[in-house]
Amino acid sequence: MNINTKIKHSPERNPVNETTKMAHETTLLAPRFYTTDFDELDKVSVESVRFDWDKLIGELKSDPNKTHFKKTKDWEEIDFDALEPTLRKELIDFLVSSLTAEFSGCVLYKEMKRRGKNPDICELFGLMSRDEARHAGFINDALREIGMDVNLGFLTRSKKYTFFKPKFIFYATYLSEKIGYARYITIFRHLEKNPDSRFHPIFKWFEKWCNDEFRHGEAFALLMKTDPKLTSGRNVWWIRFFLVARDHARPAFHDALGVDIEWYDKQVLQITSEISKQVFPIEIDLDSPRWERGLKRLRAAFESLDNAKRQGGLIGNLKKAYFSVIAGSAFFLLYIIPVKKNIVPKDSCLQPTY
Ligand SMILES: [Fe+2]
Ligand SMILES: [Fe+2]
Repeated sequence: MNINTKIKHSPERNPVNETTKMAHETTLLAPRFYTTDFDELDKVSVESVRFDWDKLIGELKSDPNKTHFKKTKDWEEIDFDALEPTLRKELIDFLVSSLTAEFSGCVLYKEMKRRGKNPDICELFGLMSRDEARHAGFINDALREIGMDVNLGFLTRSKKYTFFKPKFIFYATYLSEKIGYARYITIFRHLEKNPDSRFHPIFKWFEKWCNDEFRHGEAFALLMKTDPKLTSGRNVWWIRFFLVARDHARPAFHDALGVDIEWYDKQVLQITSEISKQVFPIEIDLDSPRWERGLKRLRAAFESLDNAKRQGGLIGNLKKAYFSVIAGSAFFLLYIIPVKKNIVPKDSCLQPTY
């Protein structure tokens, strides 16, 4: 599948507008693009999980969300200019960073399909890149409505790619798919109860949308189950690393959503932690007071670090060095909080229930 034909964009009209620049930027808090060792990925054999694998592929092929990402009468036009300026900016930030995250999945999965030779792997990643292309395209439609669509072709060609070995892609992407699910469903459920806070129609699409992310997470859980070594021995230290380093982004417009950001963060963490027991032999002790304290410190350091990077120059560089040390030590303190052990169930396929 060619993403450029699946996603409508108009590369020549406005090649690098403001939102494209935002999506192009590589910062600690901005979603990244990834690449991997495709030959190593080809060596994965799914025979040990064949039954669950075929079931999941069948579900992906049945394509339950085929017609979901289209604007219907539920998509009421919003008067964008009437939004309060701070909210308007935060909404654009949110749409652009969500779009970048969705598109990052699309690009990586599409490459995995294109460069692979293993038919199981190619089939899975073909189906998942189809979903992510739709998600990214839908958000870009929302941006296009206000004349701010991101040039996805330009982004594919020019954004920096980070290399991760397949096992690190599995840990990181598994978590980011499940976190994506937890975020979308938490916002959707909150707005179901508080429809007056729904200031953009896109949130109405989150319920079915998050089921796609849930399925993607299930696929990575199965990939990790194909080889018990991936979730035991020294790799548990890596899993611990990814559990702590997971994407901690939060919606800047939580006031407008009427959502308590501390509650939201906790909710997303708890849902993700509960789900990840399906495959990870450890879980973070979220009840430890050290966890919350450390997380606050880490977030503050990341923000200062990004600001310093943007500032540039000598002062910016000095600040960058200083906040890197602060962030590193905050991360280390989080990493050494004792984790809880977890016995991974033999049959661990899950259904979205939140
Ligand atoms: Fe997605
Ligand atoms: Fe996904």
